[in-house]
Amino acid sequence: MKKDFLSILDIDKDELAGLISEARNLKDLRSRRVAHPKLTGACIALIFEKASTRTRISFEAGIRDLGGHAIFLTTKDMQLGRGEEIRDTARVASRYVSGVMIRAYRHETIEDYARYSTIPIINGLSDKEHPCQLLADIMTITEEFGTTEGIRVAWIGDGNNVCRSLVLSSAMTGMKISVASPDGYELPADVVERAIQLGGDVTLVHDPARAVDGTDVVMTDTWVSMGDEKEKEARKSAFNGYSVTGALLAKAKPGAIVMHCLPAHRGEEIDDDVIEGIQSRVFVEAENRLHVQKALLVRLLQPRFTS
Ligand code: CP
Ligand code: NVA
Repeated sequence: MKKDFLSILDIDKDELAGLISEARNLKDLRSRRVAHPKLTGACIALIFEKASTRTRISFEAGIRDLGGHAIFLTTKDMQLGRGEEIRDTARVASRYVSGVMIRAYRHETIEDYARYSTIPIINGLSDKEHPCQLLADIMTITEEFGTTEGIRVAWIGDGNNVCRSLVLSSAMTGMKISVASPDGYELPADVVERAIQLGGDVTLVHDPARAVDGTDVVMTDTWVSMGDEKEKEARKSAFNGYSVTGALLAKAKPGAIVMHCLPAHRGEEIDDDVIEGIQSRVFVEAENRLHVQKALLVRLLQPRFTS
């Protein structure tokens, strides 16, 4: 059976621990310039419906490190952009490559693709989740604190795709998550219920200061995700007061770290002195995308791929 990674819930606690451990091993090998061609000759397609810097570069560079080859595709250059059906594209690509990463506007597009694909599919971000980002975030927190168990995380801002993957990971990671969003921009209730039902520790509040009080990690993301551009002005006014500033960060634990998946909008969801400050782990977090996605590719493709 092929295994997909569409949601952070597509792996369990043991698989997560295995991925983080393999990612740390791959990070170490790379830092010592030890070759690790674990997917020699594998060809992996990267399909983008929307823009990307980190996801594209980290997947392409990571696949190269593993001895494979990445094919970068945008839907506007594919027949998909002219109306070819997903089910046809998925079946055709399954005969050419060993795996596909997709970034799409609608989560259902990726689910549809996975349904018709006979090779593993990875969600490179949808409107609902950003599970690869969460793997990197979990790795970053593990490196910092030695564990995720009992770590308190405050999410400031939009109850968006990244926030959803974070909250859904709570039971698996043992992280206690407090989400502060303005009225109308909270995580959907069913997501919170699901996370709690799974054994997660999740609290929704409106006051950022309350979420941050005594926390270990302060996380934020853009107020206007890709696809939300039409609501830009309304969002900017709704999120006024939901910025990670030095004053807000001062309410967290003294050793707290700051994370942001990037791209950042300085002066909006995060201040320049915070992102550039000593508590920021934003660039380690971005780097860890590379290592953890390599671990994921090895996990999904190595058992199936024969060079
Ligand atoms: N964090 C993230 O996914 O960045 P990109 O949109 O640049 O890929
Ligand atoms: N929430 C953001 C994340 C970008 C990596 C978006 O979807 O645009």
